[in-house]
Amino acid sequence: MLALITGASSGLGRDLALAAARHGYDVILVARSADRLERTAAEVRAAGRHAHVLASDLSRPESAADVARAAEALGPIDVLINSAGFGDYGSFVERPWDAQVSMLQVNIVALTELTRRILPGMIERKRGRVLNLGSTASFQPAPRFGVYAATKGYVLYLSEALHEELKGTGVSVTALCPGSTATGFHDVANTGASLLNQYLMMKSGPVAEAGWDGMMRGKAVVVPGWFNKLNAWLIGFFPRVMARKMAALATKPR
Ligand SMILES: NC(=O)c1ccc[n+]([C@@H]2O[C@H](COP(=O)([O-])OP(=O)(O)OC[C@H]3O[C@@H](n4cnc5c(N)ncnc54)[C@H](OP(=O)(O)O)[C@@H]3O)[C@@H](O)[C@H]2O)c1
Repeated sequence: MLALITGASSGLGRDLALAAARHGYDVILVARSADRLERTAAEVRAAGRHAHVLASDLSRPESAADVARAAEALGPIDVLINSAGFGDYGSFVERPWDAQVSMLQVNIVALTELTRRILPGMIERKRGRVLNLGSTASFQPAPRFGVYAATKGYVLYLSEALHEELKGTGVSVTALCPGSTATGFHDVANTGASLLNQYLMMKSGPVAEAGWDGMMRGKAVVVPGWFNKLNAWLIGFFPRVMARKMAALATKPR
């Protein structure tokens, strides 16, 4: 059994790769940093599974097709995990366009293209699982995190739509929607995590395990942790205007 995992050099992608190995899968690991991918690969091999490293920059438009081709040449893909992604905190008009377009490419286009390219083989084999990294930011717009939250809203909508569309095929798509999690994300996004955020921050291992478990059960959406579950549930009762104003308060510069 073979799992293709993007963002596997760090954080949730790394922990999802280790979860895959624990559950008996060989893995193909994708991210830009070959050295950090090799570290994850060594951990997977220590767990007794095969690990292949594909260093690739998914912000380049041609990368997803190259990765899909190289991965499928290694064998049929049973599990696809799209964990590569990043955020960028700050004013929409002040943050650099280069970072915003890269975010659209990695968080949306590469995720969509890999899913589009890998799903047909899964459907033909009547077996497969896809896990896409959304966020609690998927549930409402987030001022000062506008592009990021919008990409995660897209991931949730696409994943839920595909979940229904694929009913009866033996293949399922799951969105994993974590809240604040202790990974490299906050340094890259420059979030300057608040005290509340730090207090409620989950460890990456349990989030990855919840995602793996929910994906294998064929769930549509997994929200790990009691606070995140409560948050995602409550938001459904708030008028939209209140939800976005609360998000604006949470992301206000300190
Ligand atoms: N941590 C949180 O609080 C949190 C909460 C909700 C959702 N998420 C989502 O969880 C996912 C994983 O993030 P994380 O928390 O594990 O953060 P992380 O530790 O920063 O990991 C991000 C991963 O994405 C890869 N990546 C970034 N840009 C890439 C590119 N251009 N091409 C290929 N790979 C790229 C990084 O590898 P390289 O740098 O080596 O390329 C790294 O492996 C993301 O989609 C994020 O939006 C995180």
